[in-house]
Amino acid sequence: MPEKSLKNKSPKNNSNNWTIIKILSWTESYFKDHPIDSPRLTAEMLLAHCLGIKRLDLYLQHDRPLQKDELSRFKSFIKRRILNEPVAYITGEKGFFESDFKVAKEVLIPRPDTETIVEKALGILNAGQDNLKPMRILELGTGSGAIIVSLVKAVPHHLYFACDISEKAILMAKKNADKIIPQMMNDRISFFAGDWFSSLNENKLFDLIISNPPYIPTKDIQTLQPEIRQFEPLLALDGGRDGLSCFKTILNDAHRYLVPGGILLLEMGFDQKEGVQNISKQYPRYQSIEFIKDMAGHNRVFLIKKSID
Ligand SMILES: C[S@@+](CC[C@H](N)C(=O)[O-])C[C@H]1O[C@@H](n2cnc3c(N)ncnc32)[C@H](O)[C@@H]1O
Repeated sequence: MPEKSLKNKSPKNNSNNWTIIKILSWTESYFKDHPIDSPRLTAEMLLAHCLGIKRLDLYLQHDRPLQKDELSRFKSFIKRRILNEPVAYITGEKGFFESDFKVAKEVLIPRPDTETIVEKALGILNAGQDNLKPMRILELGTGSGAIIVSLVKAVPHHLYFACDISEKAILMAKKNADKIIPQMMNDRISFFAGDWFSSLNENKLFDLIISNPPYIPTKDIQTLQPEIRQFEPLLALDGGRDGLSCFKTILNDAHRYLVPGGILLLEMGFDQKEGVQNISKQYPRYQSIEFIKDMAGHNRVFLIKKSID
């Protein structure tokens, strides 16, 4: 197919000409020209979603012709991707920490980077399993529920709570909990909408508060990839003038909701160590701070404990 214009030269509705393997090659090449990252993988993910089969099945059924409606649905996916829409919003799903999460434009697409905070939290929660009394864990800004649902699934022994300021995000997180957590564990987790701690009362303290809050400086948002700045919710990205404003709000209030010695665990940007260190000094209710690196050696999480006294 010499020239590739979606309008003129794209797969015609004469779908018999278009077998799975042929359309995959065409789309890969079309994505390369536009240019779209990982063109083959993207083509495979979109086509597998369009046909309702697994990626591997594309190759097992490589000579299967596409039906007319399949072809036109796939063309609409190609168009959306060319207009920078992330694959996860087109397919409505993103893999994160051993589960597939439903996503839509009202929630951030969970990132592999966030698995660092989940791993760290799991270490803390697994150690707490020996206690007869379950730990109480609160997630602030749950979005799709990727963090909290992964934790409940792995260590159902504890009691989990998760909030988000966005009601639509809470609905999505609940859907993910219903889909991913076995029914019998569903009573381990409660979701509620609210502005950080505003819906909580101080009588019920937590052993662990965890969050991946927005931490991108406002002025940097326009420099992000179009996939992010045009499609992902600003509410999930914008960390204020210096990117640290949510950390300040959370540090300011979290100690009132933590047991003595309770842990606050927060994801941060790879270049925010100094900023986080500086602001943490302004909050004397906590002990010293620990930074946790991701697999690439970047500081991506910090842990700070409420003082015992
Ligand atoms: C970076 S996203 C994290 C989403 C999810 N936890 C994850 O890791 O993929 C930040 C989340 O914080 C929520 N958020 C922003 N401001 C908030 C506030 N004032 N109170 C509660 N949640 C807030 C956003 O709606 C968004 O879902």
